[in-house]
Amino acid sequence: MVYYRFAPILVLAFASTTSYSAASNFGGSQIQWGACDPSVVNDTSLACGFLEVPLDYQNPSVGNARLAIIKANATGERRGSLFFNPGGPGGTGIQEVNDNKELLLEVTGGVYDIVSWDPRGVGNRTSPGEIFCFDSLAEYSTFFNGTIELTGIEETGNFTDPADVKALLAQAPIMQTKYEEVGQKCLRSSGGKFLKYIGTAAAVRDMVSIANVLDGPEAPINYMGTSYGTLIGSWFVNMFPERVGRVILDGVFDPIAFATQEPGNTFSSQRVFSDTVYKALITGCALTGPSGCAAASEGDGPLDIDAKFQALLQHAYDATKVNSSVPLTPGDIRLALWGEMYFSSDWSNFVNEEYPQMVQIVNGEVPANTSRAIRKRSTDLIRRMPLMKRSSESNDSPSYTTSAIYCADSVDPQGTTMEDVFEGIISASRNVSHMFGSLWPFPFYCSFWPVRSVERYQGPFNKKLANKILIASNLLDPITPLPAAESLAGLLGQDAVLVRQNGFGHTTVSAPSACMNEIFFAYMTNGTLPANGTVCEVDADFEVFTGVNTADILAHIPSTDI
Ligand SMILES: *[C@@H]1O[C@H](CO)[C@@H](O)[C@H](O)[C@H]1NC(C)=O
Ligand SMILES: *[C@@H]1O[C@H](CO)[C@@H](O)[C@H](O)[C@H]1NC(C)=O
Ligand SMILES: *[C@@H]1O[C@H](CO)[C@@H](O)[C@H](O)[C@H]1NC(C)=O
Ligand SMILES: *[C@@H]1O[C@H](CO)[C@@H](O)[C@H](O)[C@H]1NC(C)=O
Ligand SMILES: *[C@@H]1O[C@H](CO)[C@@H](O)[C@H](O)[C@H]1NC(C)=O
Ligand SMILES: *[C@@H]1O[C@H](CO)[C@@H](O)[C@H](O)[C@H]1NC(C)=O
Ligand SMILES: *[C@@H]1O[C@H](CO)[C@@H](O)[C@H](O)[C@H]1NC(C)=O
Ligand SMILES: *[C@@H]1O[C@H](CO)[C@@H](O)[C@H](O)[C@H]1NC(C)=O
Ligand SMILES: *[C@@H]1O[C@H](CO)[C@@H](O)[C@H](O)[C@H]1NC(C)=O
Ligand SMILES: *[C@@H]1O[C@H](CO)[C@@H](O)[C@H](O)[C@H]1NC(C)=O
Repeated sequence: MVYYRFAPILVLAFASTTSYSAASNFGGSQIQWGACDPSVVNDTSLACGFLEVPLDYQNPSVGNARLAIIKANATGERRGSLFFNPGGPGGTGIQEVNDNKELLLEVTGGVYDIVSWDPRGVGNRTSPGEIFCFDSLAEYSTFFNGTIELTGIEETGNFTDPADVKALLAQAPIMQTKYEEVGQKCLRSSGGKFLKYIGTAAAVRDMVSIANVLDGPEAPINYMGTSYGTLIGSWFVNMFPERVGRVILDGVFDPIAFATQEPGNTFSSQRVFSDTVYKALITGCALTGPSGCAAASEGDGPLDIDAKFQALLQHAYDATKVNSSVPLTPGDIRLALWGEMYFSSDWSNFVNEEYPQMVQIVNGEVPANTSRAIRKRSTDLIRRMPLMKRSSESNDSPSYTTSAIYCADSVDPQGTTMEDVFEGIISASRNVSHMFGSLWPFPFYCSFWPVRSVERYQGPFNKKLANKILIASNLLDPITPLPAAESLAGLLGQDAVLVRQNGFGHTTVSAPSACMNEIFFAYMTNGTLPANGTVCEVDADFEVFTGVNTADILAHIPSTDI
């Protein structure tokens, strides 16, 4: 993900109480550091290397995986390594460290080497690498031609029209067959034989293997995980409680929900604040007015802005009823809006640049290539988003890595049909999120995935930890809501402190907050934790819209929505 937090924290060298030397060989295996692949990493101060680990930690005879690792040296007196995972699942640690090295070093005080890796199933340097189930985008498009996979789900309101319910349910048998076929294609693909060796438990053990080599088998393991990276974190601290060093989990997945329900259900309920984040967008637009938001007319309130977005969705919907091959479907518009829910820093650009273009496209006023540009941009945004990875307007075959990881970990209740999945979507649109309940495709419908991982950690999640950890959450996160962070903090009891950021967007690092930076910094450098339940504000000079900051918007969101 992209980080927006730029507080000017000086890198201080605290006297270290414990010091772990950078030993090079603890477990027999070594990491030879060298230059990174310049096609991905342009920062030549970074070092890259590989580590061979067992594909199956319970059965070494099945062979090895090979992990691609990246390291940014500590800038101060080194205290060990800090491992980092950006989420996804499917995010590349290699690229994230290249893109965010300075921020990661700053916020952790410069006293750790920042170490990350491409987990199994990610990229083409780690082996097993990225999971592709189709040979090309063309094959994928032909396979799903005429289905909701390519257009999104057509509906108005929250399935207000019974005809939309009927039309969706009518697609259930064909989509079930297609998803079952995709599962078989994935199994037959070159990555198919590795599908059971990827997943979160393997990622945890891989991180521990790297830590053993870098810092020694007894050393505490320091870790920072955002979004899905918090699931790696909550599994890690419970699988290896005695190894817990300084750990920050930001934007929490509820590990119990994930261990007991299919991810499709979990994510329906996790979208509980997404409509409120949308309300924040339309509220901010109304507060700044027409000069700062092209979607606002003079005197418009939030409901007037909402009416314009709803009208846009309705026009796009009506157009698809006349000619199904429209350049921009209502599903595309919902997906573009959903991408915006992650980063309020993009809202001004969205309402002023993209929204007017969308209106023109839906009205047939601009050539279709503009809409391709919009779709490309929204899928770029989606690809950046820690929860979704989908290439659609590039010529790449779509990646199935995100599904492969979620589904490898998923419970397998057996017998869930596509009709059940669609009923769940309809219910989520009505009960959880009117705006975003019907997004499709989403990579976590696992009922038709043919494999589960050889190891899945199912709990307990309340182990006694060697060190206290820090849990962070936005007040209004569209996909990892505050109650999930509260549940995890509740499970860990005295071993976790929860800090809330009064903002909206996905993870606290999606908006700048000097207060949060100081908390991360003090914890990482000194072990100092704030009082449980400490609340930080987003920086007041961070304008979401011209003249409108996060606090201004929050002050206008009805408390019943929070
Ligand atoms: C790497 O490339 C990005 C743009 O792609 C640029 O912003 C950045 O400054 C480059 N970094 C280095 C160290 O060259
Ligand atoms: C990083 O640290 C290692 C070990 O101290 C050293 O060999 C290497 O040269 C350093 N890399 C850079 C870019 O300073
Ligand atoms: C690996 O992926 C990078 C882009 O991420 C690409 O430039 C490179 O050619 C790929 N290498 C192979 C061997 O496919
Ligand atoms: C999709 O199907 C339509 C006819 O239903 C056909 O005209 C079109 O070429 C197909 N597209 C692809 C990518 O197969
Ligand atoms: C439907 O729209 C597509 C592309 O926008 C166009 O090529 C096609 O001719 C239209 N079909 C009809 C029946 O108008
Ligand atoms: C769309 O096509 C026109 C003419 O072919 C070109 O000038 C314009 O740059 C294109 N726009 C985009 C966004 O690609
Ligand atoms: C959601 O709404 C449906 C009706 O569409 C209802 O049957 C179901 O019980 C509701 N679920 C929850 C969790 O409120
Ligand atoms: C549909 O959404 C509207 C608000 O947009 C709400 O008033 C209505 O109760 C919702 N319908 C159902 C069935 O949830
Ligand atoms: C922190 O507060 C949460 C409630 O938000 C609670 O569940 C947890 O036990 C508290 N932790 C400590 C260390 O008091
Ligand atoms: C470091 O920790 C000590 C003891 O926990 C505390 O007294 C001190 O204020 C902390 N310093 C900083 C800069 O947080």
